[in-house]
Amino acid sequence: MFYLNNICFILNILSVIILPFAIGAPQVPCFFIFGDSLVDNGNNNDLVTQAKVNYLPYGIDFPLGPTGRFTNGRNTADILAKLLGFENYIPPFATAQGRDFVNGVNYGSGSAGIRSETGQQLGDRISLDRQLLNHKLTVSRNVLLLGNDTAAKRHLGKCLYTLVIGSNDYINNYYIPQSNSTSRLYTPDQYATVLIQQYSQQLKTLYNYGARKVSVFGLGPIGCIPAMLAMGTNGSVCVDSVNNAVQLFNDKLKLRVDDLNKNLTDAKFIYINAMEIMSGVLSDLVMIILGSPCCEVSTDGLCIPGQDPCPIRPLHLFFDNFHPPETVNLLVATRAYTSLLSSDAYPFDIQTLIRLKL
Ligand SMILES: *[C@@H]1O[C@H](CO)[C@@H](O)[C@H](O)[C@H]1NC(C)=O
Ligand SMILES: *[C@@H]1O[C@H](CO)[C@@H](O)[C@H](O)[C@H]1NC(C)=O
Ligand SMILES: *[C@@H]1O[C@H](CO)[C@@H](O)[C@H](O)[C@H]1NC(C)=O
Ligand SMILES: *[C@@H]1O[C@H](CO)[C@@H](O)[C@H](O)[C@H]1NC(C)=O
Repeated sequence: MFYLNNICFILNILSVIILPFAIGAPQVPCFFIFGDSLVDNGNNNDLVTQAKVNYLPYGIDFPLGPTGRFTNGRNTADILAKLLGFENYIPPFATAQGRDFVNGVNYGSGSAGIRSETGQQLGDRISLDRQLLNHKLTVSRNVLLLGNDTAAKRHLGKCLYTLVIGSNDYINNYYIPQSNSTSRLYTPDQYATVLIQQYSQQLKTLYNYGARKVSVFGLGPIGCIPAMLAMGTNGSVCVDSVNNAVQLFNDKLKLRVDDLNKNLTDAKFIYINAMEIMSGVLSDLVMIILGSPCCEVSTDGLCIPGQDPCPIRPLHLFFDNFHPPETVNLLVATRAYTSLLSSDAYPFDIQTLIRLKL
Protein backbone atom coordinates (compact mmCIF):
# COMPACT_ATOMS: atom_id res chain seq x y z
CA MET A 1 0.00 0.00 0.00
CA PHE A 2 2.80 2.32 0.96
CA TYR A 3 4.63 1.83 -2.34
CA LEU A 4 1.49 1.79 -4.44
CA ASN A 5 0.32 5.08 -3.02
CA ASN A 6 3.66 6.71 -3.45
CA ILE A 7 4.09 5.55 -7.01
CA CYS A 8 0.64 6.89 -7.80
CA PHE A 9 1.55 10.11 -6.06
CA ILE A 10 4.61 10.54 -8.27
CA LEU A 11 2.67 9.68 -11.45
CA ASN A 12 0.05 12.23 -10.54
CA ILE A 13 2.59 14.94 -9.97
CA LEU A 14 4.29 14.17 -13.27
CA SER A 15 0.99 14.28 -15.11
CA VAL A 16 0.37 17.81 -13.91
CA ILE A 17 3.91 19.05 -14.41
CA ILE A 18 3.90 17.91 -18.05
CA LEU A 19 0.32 18.98 -18.62
CA PRO A 20 0.26 21.15 -21.74
CA PHE A 21 -0.84 24.73 -21.38
CA ALA A 22 -4.49 25.33 -22.02
CA ILE A 23 -5.41 25.62 -25.66
CA GLY A 24 -8.81 27.07 -26.49
CA ALA A 25 -11.70 27.52 -24.13
CA PRO A 26 -11.75 26.17 -20.59
CA GLN A 27 -14.03 23.19 -19.92
CA VAL A 28 -16.40 25.30 -17.85
CA PRO A 29 -17.20 28.95 -18.58
CA CYS A 30 -16.63 29.96 -14.95
CA PHE A 31 -15.12 28.71 -11.69
CA PHE A 32 -15.96 30.01 -8.21
CA ILE A 33 -13.98 29.03 -5.11
CA PHE A 34 -15.00 29.32 -1.46
CA GLY A 35 -12.87 28.32 1.49
CA ASP A 36 -9.99 28.90 3.86
CA SER A 37 -6.20 29.22 3.63
CA LEU A 38 -5.99 26.06 1.55
CA VAL A 39 -7.40 28.13 -1.33
CA ASP A 40 -7.00 31.81 -0.26
CA ASN A 41 -5.01 33.63 -2.94
CA GLY A 42 -4.80 37.10 -1.43
CA ASN A 43 -8.15 38.00 0.12
CA ASN A 44 -6.59 38.41 3.57
CA ASN A 45 -3.77 40.70 2.47
CA ASP A 46 -5.58 43.89 3.44
CA LEU A 47 -7.38 42.54 6.51
CA VAL A 48 -6.25 43.19 10.07
CA THR A 49 -5.28 39.63 10.95
CA GLN A 50 -2.33 37.47 11.90
CA ALA A 51 -3.52 35.03 9.23
CA LYS A 52 -1.88 36.61 6.21
CA VAL A 53 1.24 35.55 4.38
CA ASN A 54 2.04 38.04 1.62
CA TYR A 55 5.77 37.76 2.34
CA LEU A 56 8.61 35.35 1.56
CA PRO A 57 9.16 32.44 1.95
CA TYR A 58 5.46 32.03 0.99
CA GLY A 59 5.26 32.06 -2.79
CA ILE A 60 8.94 31.23 -3.23
CA ASP A 61 8.01 28.74 -5.99
CA PHE A 62 5.06 30.75 -7.34
CA PRO A 63 5.61 32.60 -10.63
CA LEU A 64 4.31 35.86 -9.12
CA GLY A 65 6.16 35.49 -5.81
CA PRO A 66 4.36 36.12 -2.51
CA THR A 67 0.67 36.84 -3.20
CA GLY A 68 -1.01 35.77 0.03
CA ARG A 69 -1.13 32.07 -0.91
CA PHE A 70 -0.42 29.96 2.18
CA THR A 71 2.14 27.69 0.52
CA ASN A 72 5.37 27.74 -1.46
CA GLY A 73 3.75 27.51 -4.89
CA ARG A 74 0.27 26.95 -6.25
CA ASN A 75 -2.65 26.00 -4.05
CA THR A 76 -5.42 23.51 -4.77
CA ALA A 77 -7.63 26.12 -6.47
CA ASP A 78 -4.80 27.21 -8.78
CA ILE A 79 -4.15 23.65 -9.88
CA LEU A 80 -7.85 22.93 -10.42
CA ALA A 81 -8.14 26.07 -12.57
CA LYS A 82 -5.28 24.81 -14.72
CA LEU A 83 -6.82 21.34 -15.03
CA LEU A 84 -10.08 22.98 -16.08
CA GLY A 85 -8.20 24.74 -18.86
CA PHE A 86 -8.22 28.32 -17.57
CA GLU A 87 -5.34 30.33 -18.94
CA ASN A 88 -5.02 32.53 -15.89
CA TYR A 89 -5.34 32.06 -12.15
CA ILE A 90 -8.81 32.78 -10.79
CA PRO A 91 -8.46 36.24 -9.16
CA PRO A 92 -9.19 36.91 -5.48
CA PHE A 93 -12.56 38.55 -4.87
CA ALA A 94 -10.76 41.38 -3.05
CA THR A 95 -9.10 42.65 -6.25
CA ALA A 96 -11.43 41.28 -8.94
CA GLN A 97 -12.85 43.64 -11.57
CA GLY A 98 -15.22 43.70 -14.52
CA ARG A 99 -15.48 40.40 -16.42
CA ASP A 100 -13.69 38.58 -13.58
CA PHE A 101 -17.08 38.34 -11.89
CA VAL A 102 -18.42 36.48 -14.92
CA ASN A 103 -15.44 34.14 -15.34
CA GLY A 104 -15.04 33.30 -11.68
CA VAL A 105 -13.47 34.64 -8.50
CA ASN A 106 -11.92 33.14 -5.38
CA TYR A 107 -13.50 34.08 -2.03
CA GLY A 108 -11.13 31.98 0.13
CA SER A 109 -9.90 33.49 3.39
CA GLY A 110 -7.24 32.17 5.75
CA SER A 111 -8.53 31.24 9.25
CA ALA A 112 -12.17 31.36 8.09
CA GLY A 113 -14.69 28.67 8.90
CA ILE A 114 -18.20 27.41 8.51
CA ARG A 115 -18.96 29.10 11.85
CA SER A 116 -18.62 32.85 11.85
CA GLU A 117 -16.67 33.04 15.15
CA THR A 118 -14.03 30.59 13.91
CA GLY A 119 -10.59 32.21 13.69
CA GLN A 120 -11.65 35.33 15.62
CA GLN A 121 -8.60 35.16 17.92
CA LEU A 122 -6.38 35.80 14.88
CA GLY A 123 -8.26 38.90 13.72
CA ASP A 124 -10.48 39.59 10.75
CA ARG A 125 -11.39 36.87 8.26
CA ILE A 126 -14.13 36.26 5.72
CA SER A 127 -16.32 33.51 7.13
CA LEU A 128 -18.27 31.28 4.75
CA ASP A 129 -21.41 33.34 5.47
CA ARG A 130 -19.57 36.49 4.42
CA GLN A 131 -18.14 34.74 1.37
CA LEU A 132 -21.71 33.93 0.36
CA LEU A 133 -22.69 37.57 0.80
CA ASN A 134 -19.79 38.50 -1.48
CA HIS A 135 -21.08 35.96 -3.98
CA LYS A 136 -24.48 37.62 -3.83
CA LEU A 137 -22.79 40.79 -5.09
CA THR A 138 -21.15 38.73 -7.82
CA VAL A 139 -24.55 37.41 -8.88
CA SER A 140 -25.93 40.95 -9.25
CA ARG A 141 -22.84 41.98 -11.23
CA ASN A 142 -23.53 39.03 -13.54
CA VAL A 143 -27.07 40.30 -14.08
CA LEU A 144 -25.68 43.72 -15.04
CA LEU A 145 -22.89 42.39 -17.23
CA LEU A 146 -24.96 39.72 -19.00
CA GLY A 147 -28.04 41.88 -19.45
CA ASN A 148 -30.77 40.18 -17.45
CA ASP A 149 -31.68 37.60 -14.78
CA THR A 150 -32.29 34.79 -17.26
CA ALA A 151 -28.91 35.17 -18.92
CA ALA A 152 -27.13 35.38 -15.54
CA LYS A 153 -28.96 32.32 -14.25
CA ARG A 154 -28.13 30.29 -17.33
CA HIS A 155 -24.47 31.29 -17.12
CA LEU A 156 -24.07 30.71 -13.36
CA GLY A 157 -25.67 27.28 -13.68
CA LYS A 158 -22.82 26.15 -15.94
CA CYS A 159 -19.99 27.11 -13.57
CA LEU A 160 -18.01 24.83 -11.30
CA TYR A 161 -18.21 25.76 -7.61
CA THR A 162 -15.63 24.38 -5.19
CA LEU A 163 -15.66 24.64 -1.40
CA VAL A 164 -12.66 23.83 0.80
CA ILE A 165 -13.66 24.75 4.34
CA GLY A 166 -14.10 23.34 7.85
CA SER A 167 -10.48 22.79 8.97
CA ASN A 168 -10.49 26.00 11.00
CA ASP A 169 -13.69 25.03 12.76
CA TYR A 170 -11.42 22.42 14.36
CA ILE A 171 -7.96 24.06 14.40
CA ASN A 172 -9.09 27.60 15.22
CA ASN A 173 -12.21 26.83 17.21
CA TYR A 174 -12.92 23.41 18.74
CA TYR A 175 -9.30 22.67 19.65
CA ILE A 176 -8.50 26.08 21.13
CA PRO A 177 -9.02 25.45 24.84
CA GLN A 178 -9.10 29.10 25.91
CA SER A 179 -11.66 30.10 23.30
CA ASN A 180 -15.41 30.37 23.73
CA SER A 181 -15.20 26.74 23.55
CA THR A 182 -17.40 24.68 21.36
CA SER A 183 -15.53 21.74 22.89
CA ARG A 184 -17.24 22.45 26.20
CA LEU A 185 -20.64 22.55 24.55
CA TYR A 186 -20.38 19.60 22.19
CA THR A 187 -18.89 16.14 21.94
CA PRO A 188 -16.98 15.60 18.67
CA ASP A 189 -20.01 13.84 17.23
CA GLN A 190 -22.41 16.65 18.22
CA TYR A 191 -19.99 19.25 16.90
CA ALA A 192 -19.73 17.48 13.55
CA THR A 193 -23.53 17.43 13.43
CA VAL A 194 -23.96 21.17 14.10
CA LEU A 195 -21.21 22.01 11.61
CA ILE A 196 -22.82 19.90 8.91
CA GLN A 197 -26.25 21.41 9.60
CA GLN A 198 -24.85 24.89 9.12
CA TYR A 199 -22.76 23.88 6.09
CA SER A 200 -25.75 22.28 4.47
CA GLN A 201 -27.75 25.52 4.84
CA GLN A 202 -24.84 27.41 3.30
CA LEU A 203 -24.73 24.97 0.38
CA LYS A 204 -28.45 25.53 -0.16
CA THR A 205 -27.85 29.29 -0.17
CA LEU A 206 -25.24 28.75 -2.86
CA TYR A 207 -27.78 26.69 -4.81
CA ASN A 208 -30.29 29.53 -4.44
CA TYR A 209 -27.70 31.86 -6.00
CA GLY A 210 -27.68 29.58 -9.04
CA ALA A 211 -24.92 27.02 -8.37
CA ARG A 212 -25.67 23.65 -9.99
CA LYS A 213 -22.29 21.88 -10.12
CA VAL A 214 -20.68 21.88 -6.71
CA SER A 215 -17.61 20.02 -5.45
CA VAL A 216 -17.24 19.94 -1.68
CA PHE A 217 -13.89 18.96 -0.19
CA GLY A 218 -13.82 16.86 2.96
CA LEU A 219 -11.19 17.61 5.59
CA GLY A 220 -7.67 16.20 5.54
CA PRO A 221 -5.85 14.50 8.43
CA ILE A 222 -5.75 17.58 10.67
CA GLY A 223 -4.46 15.45 13.56
CA CYS A 224 -1.17 15.09 11.65
CA ILE A 225 -0.34 18.79 11.12
CA PRO A 226 2.66 19.97 13.14
CA ALA A 227 0.49 22.55 14.95
CA MET A 228 -1.70 19.75 16.34
CA LEU A 229 1.11 17.41 17.36
CA ALA A 230 1.81 19.85 20.20
CA MET A 231 -1.40 18.56 21.82
CA GLY A 232 0.44 15.31 22.55
CA THR A 233 0.11 12.22 20.41
CA ASN A 234 -0.18 9.57 23.12
CA GLY A 235 2.35 7.33 21.43
CA SER A 236 0.91 7.65 17.91
CA VAL A 237 2.49 9.52 15.03
CA CYS A 238 -0.57 11.79 14.72
CA VAL A 239 -3.21 12.98 17.19
CA ASP A 240 -5.70 10.17 16.66
CA SER A 241 -8.52 11.84 18.62
CA VAL A 242 -8.40 14.83 16.24
CA ASN A 243 -8.34 12.64 13.13
CA ASN A 244 -11.28 10.68 14.52
CA ALA A 245 -13.26 13.88 15.20
CA VAL A 246 -12.55 15.11 11.67
CA GLN A 247 -13.59 11.76 10.24
CA LEU A 248 -17.01 12.16 11.90
CA PHE A 249 -17.37 15.46 10.04
CA ASN A 250 -16.31 13.84 6.76
CA ASP A 251 -18.71 10.91 7.13
CA LYS A 252 -21.64 13.21 7.82
CA LEU A 253 -20.66 15.52 4.98
CA LYS A 254 -20.65 12.64 2.51
CA LEU A 255 -24.12 11.57 3.67
CA ARG A 256 -25.33 15.15 3.36
CA VAL A 257 -24.09 15.29 -0.23
CA ASP A 258 -26.43 12.35 -0.96
CA ASP A 259 -29.27 14.21 0.72
CA LEU A 260 -28.66 17.39 -1.23
CA ASN A 261 -28.60 15.45 -4.49
CA LYS A 262 -31.91 13.83 -3.59
CA ASN A 263 -33.57 17.11 -2.64
CA LEU A 264 -32.14 19.45 -5.24
CA THR A 265 -32.60 17.33 -8.32
CA ASP A 266 -31.52 19.93 -10.88
CA ALA A 267 -28.09 20.24 -9.23
CA LYS A 268 -25.22 17.87 -8.52
CA PHE A 269 -22.98 17.92 -5.47
CA ILE A 270 -19.86 15.78 -5.12
CA TYR A 271 -17.68 15.00 -2.11
CA ILE A 272 -13.88 14.90 -2.39
CA ASN A 273 -12.24 12.48 0.03
CA ALA A 274 -9.18 14.56 0.91
CA MET A 275 -8.64 12.46 4.04
CA GLU A 276 -8.13 9.30 2.06
CA ILE A 277 -6.10 10.94 -0.68
CA MET A 278 -3.72 12.45 1.88
CA SER A 279 -3.67 9.49 4.25
CA GLY A 280 -2.14 7.44 1.46
CA VAL A 281 0.88 9.72 1.61
CA LEU A 282 0.87 10.24 5.37
CA SER A 283 1.89 6.73 6.35
CA ASP A 284 3.60 6.55 9.75
CA LEU A 285 6.99 6.10 8.18
CA VAL A 286 6.59 9.02 5.80
CA MET A 287 5.26 11.20 8.64
CA ILE A 288 8.30 10.39 10.76
CA ILE A 289 10.76 11.14 7.95
CA LEU A 290 9.03 14.02 6.16
CA GLY A 291 6.61 15.42 8.75
CA SER A 292 8.57 18.46 9.88
CA PRO A 293 7.65 21.87 8.45
CA CYS A 294 9.82 23.16 5.61
CA CYS A 295 10.21 26.71 6.90
CA GLU A 296 11.25 28.03 10.28
CA VAL A 297 8.02 28.93 12.04
CA SER A 298 7.21 31.54 14.68
CA THR A 299 5.00 30.89 17.71
CA ASP A 300 1.85 31.28 15.60
CA GLY A 301 2.98 28.40 13.36
CA LEU A 302 3.43 30.50 10.21
CA CYS A 303 6.81 30.93 8.49
CA ILE A 304 9.06 33.67 9.89
CA PRO A 305 9.28 36.42 7.24
CA GLY A 306 12.40 36.47 5.14
CA GLN A 307 13.89 33.19 6.38
CA ASP A 308 15.14 30.74 3.75
CA PRO A 309 12.90 27.67 3.64
CA CYS A 310 14.16 24.11 3.22
CA PRO A 311 15.90 23.62 -0.14
CA ILE A 312 13.90 20.58 -1.34
CA ARG A 313 10.25 21.53 -0.75
CA PRO A 314 8.74 18.30 -2.18
CA LEU A 315 10.47 16.34 0.58
CA HIS A 316 8.25 17.84 3.26
CA LEU A 317 4.59 17.15 3.91
CA PHE A 318 4.13 20.60 5.43
CA PHE A 319 5.39 23.99 4.38
CA ASP A 320 4.65 25.59 7.77
CA ASN A 321 2.85 24.20 10.83
CA PHE A 322 -0.53 24.05 9.03
CA HIS A 323 -0.22 24.02 5.26
CA PRO A 324 1.01 21.51 2.70
CA PRO A 325 3.53 22.46 0.01
CA GLU A 326 2.55 22.60 -3.65
CA THR A 327 3.36 18.91 -4.25
CA VAL A 328 0.68 17.79 -1.81
CA ASN A 329 -1.77 20.30 -3.33
CA LEU A 330 -1.02 18.75 -6.72
CA LEU A 331 -1.87 15.31 -5.39
CA VAL A 332 -5.19 16.40 -3.90
CA ALA A 333 -6.26 18.54 -6.85
CA THR A 334 -5.35 16.00 -9.53
CA ARG A 335 -7.18 13.16 -7.76
CA ALA A 336 -10.18 15.38 -7.11
CA TYR A 337 -10.26 16.16 -10.81
CA THR A 338 -9.60 12.61 -12.07
CA SER A 339 -10.04 10.09 -9.30
CA LEU A 340 -7.42 7.39 -9.02
CA LEU A 341 -9.31 5.20 -6.56
CA SER A 342 -13.10 5.08 -6.76
CA SER A 343 -13.25 6.33 -3.15
CA ASP A 344 -11.36 9.56 -4.00
CA ALA A 345 -14.55 11.32 -5.08
CA TYR A 346 -18.21 10.54 -4.42
CA PRO A 347 -20.34 9.81 -6.34
CA PHE A 348 -17.81 10.79 -9.04
CA ASP A 349 -14.92 13.15 -9.75
CA ILE A 350 -14.85 16.78 -10.93
CA GLN A 351 -14.10 15.80 -14.53
CA THR A 352 -17.35 13.82 -14.62
CA LEU A 353 -19.27 16.56 -12.80
CA ILE A 354 -18.40 19.26 -15.31
CA ARG A 355 -19.42 17.06 -18.27
CA LEU A 356 -22.91 16.42 -16.90
CA LYS A 357 -25.81 17.86 -18.85
CA LEU A 358 -28.13 19.10 -16.14
C1 LIG B 1 -31.88 38.33 -21.78
O1 LIG B 1 -30.65 38.52 -22.48
C2 LIG B 1 -30.45 37.61 -23.53
C3 LIG B 1 -29.05 37.76 -24.07
O2 LIG B 1 -28.38 38.83 -23.52
C4 LIG B 1 -31.52 37.83 -24.59
O3 LIG B 1 -31.32 36.92 -25.66
C5 LIG B 1 -32.87 37.60 -23.96
O4 LIG B 1 -33.88 37.91 -24.89
C6 LIG B 1 -33.06 38.46 -22.71
N1 LIG B 1 -34.28 38.04 -22.03
C7 LIG B 1 -35.13 38.89 -21.49
C8 LIG B 1 -36.29 38.29 -20.77
O5 LIG B 1 -34.95 40.09 -21.54
C1 LIG C 1 -19.84 32.20 22.42
O1 LIG C 1 -20.39 31.68 21.23
C2 LIG C 1 -21.80 31.78 21.19
C3 LIG C 1 -22.27 31.07 19.92
O2 LIG C 1 -21.47 31.38 18.83
C4 LIG C 1 -22.22 33.26 21.22
O3 LIG C 1 -23.62 33.34 21.23
C5 LIG C 1 -21.65 33.89 22.48
O4 LIG C 1 -21.90 35.27 22.47
C6 LIG C 1 -20.14 33.68 22.58
N1 LIG C 1 -19.65 34.17 23.85
C7 LIG C 1 -18.51 34.85 23.96
C8 LIG C 1 -18.12 35.25 25.34
O5 LIG C 1 -17.80 35.11 23.00
C1 LIG D 1 -4.08 7.32 25.16
O1 LIG D 1 -4.25 6.00 24.67
C2 LIG D 1 -4.92 5.13 25.58
C3 LIG D 1 -4.89 3.73 25.00
O2 LIG D 1 -5.37 3.74 23.65
C4 LIG D 1 -6.33 5.66 25.83
O3 LIG D 1 -7.00 4.83 26.74
C5 LIG D 1 -6.23 7.07 26.37
O4 LIG D 1 -7.52 7.63 26.49
C6 LIG D 1 -5.42 7.96 25.44
N1 LIG D 1 -5.23 9.26 26.03
C7 LIG D 1 -5.44 10.38 25.39
C8 LIG D 1 -5.17 11.64 26.12
O5 LIG D 1 -5.83 10.42 24.22
C1 LIG E 1 -34.13 16.79 2.22
O1 LIG E 1 -35.51 16.75 2.36
C2 LIG E 1 -35.96 16.05 3.51
C3 LIG E 1 -37.47 15.94 3.44
O2 LIG E 1 -38.02 17.19 3.10
C4 LIG E 1 -35.46 16.78 4.75
O3 LIG E 1 -35.85 16.09 5.92
C5 LIG E 1 -33.93 16.87 4.70
O4 LIG E 1 -33.46 17.62 5.79
C6 LIG E 1 -33.48 17.50 3.41
N1 LIG E 1 -32.04 17.43 3.33
C7 LIG E 1 -31.29 18.41 2.86
C8 LIG E 1 -29.84 18.21 2.87
O5 LIG E 1 -31.78 19.43 2.43
